[in-house]
Amino acid sequence: MPRTVSVINYKGGVGKTTLTANIGAELANRGRTVLLIDLDPQSSLTFSFYTARQWEEELQDERTILQWIGALLSDGQPTPLADFVLTPTRVNELVAANGGRLDLIASHLGLIDVDQDLAAELGGSRFQVTSPNFLRVHRMLADALADDAFGQYDVVLIDCPPNFGMATRAGIVASERVLVPAKPDYLSSLGINYLRGRLSDLVGDYNKVVLADSGTVPPITPEIMGVVVTMVQYTGVRPITVHRENIRALAATELPVFRQTMRQSSALFGQGGEGSLPVVLTPGINDTVLYELHQLTSEFYAKIRV
Ligand SMILES: Nc1ncnc2c1ncn2[C@@H]1O[C@H](COP(=O)(O)OP(=O)(O)OP(=O)(O)O)[C@@H](O)[C@H]1O
Ligand SMILES: [Mg+2]
Repeated sequence: MPRTVSVINYKGGVGKTTLTANIGAELANRGRTVLLIDLDPQSSLTFSFYTARQWEEELQDERTILQWIGALLSDGQPTPLADFVLTPTRVNELVAANGGRLDLIASHLGLIDVDQDLAAELGGSRFQVTSPNFLRVHRMLADALADDAFGQYDVVLIDCPPNFGMATRAGIVASERVLVPAKPDYLSSLGINYLRGRLSDLVGDYNKVVLADSGTVPPITPEIMGVVVTMVQYTGVRPITVHRENIRALAATELPVFRQTMRQSSALFGQGGEGSLPVVLTPGINDTVLYELHQLTSEFYAKIRV
């Protein structure tokens, strides 16, 4: 069974997609078979591997998760999720040399409306546990990933949108663990506590419904595998004071925190790099950020193997 991890934070722009793309690409480069799933209508993860033009010409009409969910929501025969798996060319040309593979399930801008439709199926954004559809909708991804076709993956990484909507909830239900990227500012710590509350509400509600359903599906126990502190600003060899203090404060909570942090680098991430390779695989880069991403990937992989 693959290890499945959702990358979540309802706060936007904290590095979820960047970490998903880079950890995924680095694991593939180390010979692992990796599946990335883009659940965000913004589709930034998809555009990390495909250009906007490729997306328009080759993916948008038939080959994104939107069409899969569309089939699921209509009464017709649901399509296997495995039919939507893509193998982006450029990144795979590089990782194949080491025996790895990086696959992707692409997203679609139209997903934003679907999230609302899904919530409506459950009686609106309060996600009523009394809805007969509660388990079916929450388990859509978990059930789809149970397909034998996904047994080949060592790791599945799910990039979630910056909210706690239906796509994120389905991602969490399908995951054994969640990874929480966060910036080292004070508001982030408050945000993480709020996120933890939402996560435990989801788990509580879900497991209550499972119990009432007389246990046809197992309860879930997604675990926060760690907070990754991103976009740390340095002065000389040390983080700026306010970041250092916030990192220390975070480490003092009972939350698991990755030892490796990721520094801010406008030089590496400034250009937006659509359709290009993730930083870890971009030739000619020799930067501390690269070292940090390597360390982070090792730490990540060690944690998920336990
Ligand atoms: N270490 C870094 N230094 C500087 N810029 C970064 C760094 N990591 C990511 N970025 C940039 O910050 C922006 C937000 O990053 P990213 O898209 O990964 O965040 P996100 O949490 O996925 O955002 P969203 O919530 O919108 O999905 C992007 O433009 C990205 O290139
Ligand atoms: Mg993102």
